[in-house]
Amino acid sequence: MKKIATITKATIVAGLLISGCATISGAADTATSSASRAVTAAASTQGVQEASFTSTGAVRQPVGYREWIYIGTPLTPNALNGGAAAFPEFHNVYVEPTAFKHFERTGEWADGTQIAKELVSVRSNNNDEGNGSSQEVSGRGYFMGEFVGLELAVKDSSRYADEPGNWAYFSFGHTPEPYAATAEAFPAESCNACHAASAETDFVFSQFYPVVRAAQN
Ligand code: HEC
Repeated sequence: MKKIATITKATIVAGLLISGCATISGAADTATSSASRAVTAAASTQGVQEASFTSTGAVRQPVGYREWIYIGTPLTPNALNGGAAAFPEFHNVYVEPTAFKHFERTGEWADGTQIAKELVSVRSNNNDEGNGSSQEVSGRGYFMGEFVGLELAVKDSSRYADEPGNWAYFSFGHTPEPYAATAEAFPAESCNACHAASAETDFVFSQFYPVVRAAQN
């Protein structure tokens, strides 16, 4: 699967159908059949690497998401939210690279798009002046501590045909690692509704992601 997806991308980007595959597989006949499968995959998925699901429809924890395209880190610390923010951590957000490339080309989130949001605690050094900040070598401020949660958004028009915008939302836990291996989609009112109401670009909060806005222009 992975190999085909890589070939598909190379095929679209470089237009080097046969030679691109031959380089990867090292055998011309295998390359030809891989190439035709790759074309089919490209037509149906727009070359976007899709999430992996269990037979019962739970999504598997994405692999390597910290190496995806990093788009931004909103922060809603407790000290600015009456001591009780729903998510008092940094929110590091990453888009799966083939979906990001598609967005750069078209300005649209393709079918198959995956966006991960990892929560990272605010570092504490017992000198927080009552506002959760810490004094570090570069100054007083908010610095990242530990990984404490992982969420995922997936757009899929066949799997989530009934969800608004075809987006489904998942959590692998709001706890330190290890996170859960799989997650079930939340009902639309738990997550999707707020994204539908307030996110600027097809359920995605691009207003908080300068990397996404730069790719849009
Ligand atoms: C009250 C509004 C609200 C609700 C409810 C909500 N979100 Fe979000 N979500 C946001 C905002 C605002 C962002 C932008 C980044 C940030 O502040 O963390 C975001 C960003 C995200 C992202 C990163 C991609 C994007 O669309 O910007 C994921 C993934 C995500 N949320 C998952 C979830 C999940 C899972 C749930 C349900 C358990 C959920 N959200 C419920 C407001 C909400």
